[in-house]
Amino acid sequence: MGGLGFWTNGFWPGMLWQMFHATSDEIYRTTAQAVGDRLAVLLDQFEGLDHDIGFLFLPSAVADYRTTGSAEARRRGLHAANLLAGRYNPVGRYIRAWNNNMFFGDDVSGRMIIDCMMNIPLLYWASKEANDPRFAHIAKAHARTAQQYIVRPDGSCNHMIDFDSATGEFINNPGGQGFGQGSCWSRGQSWAVYGFALSYRHTGEEEFLNTAKRCAHYCISSLATNGWLPLVDYRAPAEPVKYDSTAGMITAAGLLEIASHVGEYEKPLYTKAALNILKACDKKFCNWDPEQDSIVDGGTFFYHDPTGDNTEVPIIYGDYYFIEAVLRLLGKDLFIW
Ligand code: GLY
Repeated sequence: MGGLGFWTNGFWPGMLWQMFHATSDEIYRTTAQAVGDRLAVLLDQFEGLDHDIGFLFLPSAVADYRTTGSAEARRRGLHAANLLAGRYNPVGRYIRAWNNNMFFGDDVSGRMIIDCMMNIPLLYWASKEANDPRFAHIAKAHARTAQQYIVRPDGSCNHMIDFDSATGEFINNPGGQGFGQGSCWSRGQSWAVYGFALSYRHTGEEEFLNTAKRCAHYCISSLATNGWLPLVDYRAPAEPVKYDSTAGMITAAGLLEIASHVGEYEKPLYTKAALNILKACDKKFCNWDPEQDSIVDGGTFFYHDPTGDNTEVPIIYGDYYFIEAVLRLLGKDLFIW
C-alpha cells in the first residue's frame, strides 16, 4: 500500500505549515511548498485519487493558500474540490469513498465511510472561496446522510455503509477497520468527533454540533474508564488490549474544536478531556529522541492485523494531530480544516 496518492501524504506538508505558522522559519515554508508541488501532479493523474483528496489537499494546497495567498495553491485547492464534488451520488446523497480496484473490490460505488467527514471541509472551503453554494450543498447532504446512517443513537459510529448506488437504498453496514460489524473503531469515532464539529463551524447548523458532542461523549466515557488511553475499538473484547494513539490525537484535536464552539460552562468538559488524552498518550507513547523522525508511537492502522506490522507503531497522522492539538492549546496553530 502506498504511492503518491495515498491518503496520508498531506500530513507532512500539514506539519510543515503548522510549524511555519508557529515559528516563521522559512525552511518550513519552502519545504512544504516543494511537497505541495509534488502532490499537485496527482490532479493530472486523478484515477488513483478517491474521497481522501481532502486529507491530501487541505493540509497542502489550501494551507499554502491560506498562509501565502498563492494563486496557484488556490487553483489546486479548487481543482481538488471539484474532483471531490464529482464523487457525490445525488440519489443516495453520499460521497463515494473508494474506487473499484484489486484492494477494495469490483463494486464499491455505493460505499460511504465516516472518515469522509474530514474530507468535506474541502467543499466548505471551495464554496466560500468560489462563492458557489453547490460545494456546501454536497458537503451538508453527505454529513446528514452520515448522521442518519453512521452515527448510532448512543453516539458510537459504524465505519462503513453500503448503499445501492443506482437506487440509493441502504444495503448494509459492514465492519471496517475496527473489530467487526457493530463495533466502534476508535479512529472512525475520532473522525466523527472532529468532522461533525467542523461541519458545525462551516455551516452554523446546531444539529452538527450536537452530533459531534454525542460522538465525543461516547469516546470520553470509554477513555475515562481506561486511563485516557485509546483502544483500537471501543466495543471489542477486553483481551487482547490493543491501543491506537492516533485515535487519541485526533479525538483530542476534535474536542478542542468542540470546545471552541460551546459556552464557558461546557468548555472544561472538552478541554480537560483533550488534555487528559494528550498527557496519557505523551506518557505512554511519545518518543522525544531528536535523532528519530516520529514522536507518537502506539498507532494502529486497523484492528485485525495479521502481521502485526501496523499495530502500535508510529504513524504520521498521530504526529500531525498531536502537533496541531498542542499548538492550538498554545494559541499558535494554523486552521487547516
Ligand atoms: N482514513 C483512513 C484511516 O483513518 O485509516
